[in-house]
Amino acid sequence: ESTTVVVIGAGPAGLTVATLLRRCGIDCVVLERRSREYVAQRQRAGIVESRAVRMFASWGLADLVLGGPPHDGILEFRVDGESHLVDDRDGSEGPGARLCPQQVLVQKLTAACLADGGDLRHEAADVSLHDLTGDRPTVRYRSADGTLHTITCDFVAGCDGDHGVTRTAVPDGVLTAHTHDHGIGWLTVLADAPPPAHPLLAVSSQGFAAHFPRGPHSSRYYLQCPPDDHPDAWPDDRVWDALRTRLADPALVAGPITDRETFRLRSLVHDPMRYGRLFLVGDAAHIVSPMGGKGMNLALYDADLFVRAVRDHVRDQDDTGLRTYSQRCLRRVWNDQEFSHWLTRTVHDAGDDTDSGPFLRQLARSRLDRLFTSPTAAQAFAELMTGLDPA
Ligand code: APR
Repeated sequence: ESTTVVVIGAGPAGLTVATLLRRCGIDCVVLERRSREYVAQRQRAGIVESRAVRMFASWGLADLVLGGPPHDGILEFRVDGESHLVDDRDGSEGPGARLCPQQVLVQKLTAACLADGGDLRHEAADVSLHDLTGDRPTVRYRSADGTLHTITCDFVAGCDGDHGVTRTAVPDGVLTAHTHDHGIGWLTVLADAPPPAHPLLAVSSQGFAAHFPRGPHSSRYYLQCPPDDHPDAWPDDRVWDALRTRLADPALVAGPITDRETFRLRSLVHDPMRYGRLFLVGDAAHIVSPMGGKGMNLALYDADLFVRAVRDHVRDQDDTGLRTYSQRCLRRVWNDQEFSHWLTRTVHDAGDDTDSGPFLRQLARSRLDRLFTSPTAAQAFAELMTGLDPA
């Protein structure tokens, strides 16, 4: 069997790559370890930034693959109970960000890709990559019925996340991993409870908390916790008490909790994002701390650049895009890493006396004060939130 691109992983990155390739009439096969149902239910990111909305629009896909209401551009910061509304639109023309939960994007991309003749193969086990530096790499896998398959291709798109197999196919010493552990833990809770009026970030002496919409009747909450806390340490009552205190909202309406996880905030960049004919896309290449909502948006950026590069190669024998892929992606990755790190420190240090010390606390408070009072600082923040392309 033979195709142009084998895409490993059918998360937001892999499905976007496959859908855009089909739009260009380029063949691809997608291999995903989990079932279609599992992938379609996985809940994580929730905001598609304006730049990514424009990207889908440029492919004629915005209406087809994005769901959820438009984001009205207002973010609320609540600092010790005092509310500050920040406008995160950059004033540019065209569509704004969308509050589109990841699973909605995944479901719609799956449908769009299949409608365009996409070849999505779920429950593909034991994926292995061979001859990545040759002219025709091979990908082997085992389908659910136990049959072994071999596919030759021109390119492999490694869209299999941080724990995938594609990056491990790169020999030691080729990639440099830049890692950072923020020393911060988060409890994330998903509940059938009313969404906030605006996405809400709260700073308090008890630590950081946030409340984000995930649908007309559902919300995701974040609570800063010790870095290695276990979700069992957070029974329902403790969750709602902590949220009411940190959000300074004693009347916060509770609801059934449907998911509860803890994790450490960390950031990671692999450089370069290419090895021979393997191109790493999304979480397979980089992890960004969730503050600022950039993880999924970076994956969409990589996917778009990769597909344009393959299209130029196939259609015009122009390899500029393939050659510059890693460098162009990484420029944006570091831009967003810096923003995410800045916002992470700003909202955590500001309320957190114990770990950061009074000096860092004052720095963080000062950054918030500048954001709330300087139009120029607010404009810079809005540009970073919307994902304005660096010149
Ligand atoms: N073989 C095949 N598929 C695999 C393998 C493997 N060995 N390993 C992982 N996968 C699949 C996973 O099951 C998953 O569906 O690859 C997919 C990777 O998806 P994500 O982890 O969501 O990564 P990505 O698509 O890059 O996500 C982009 O969206 O919500 C965010 O946290 C997410 O920031 C990330 C972004």
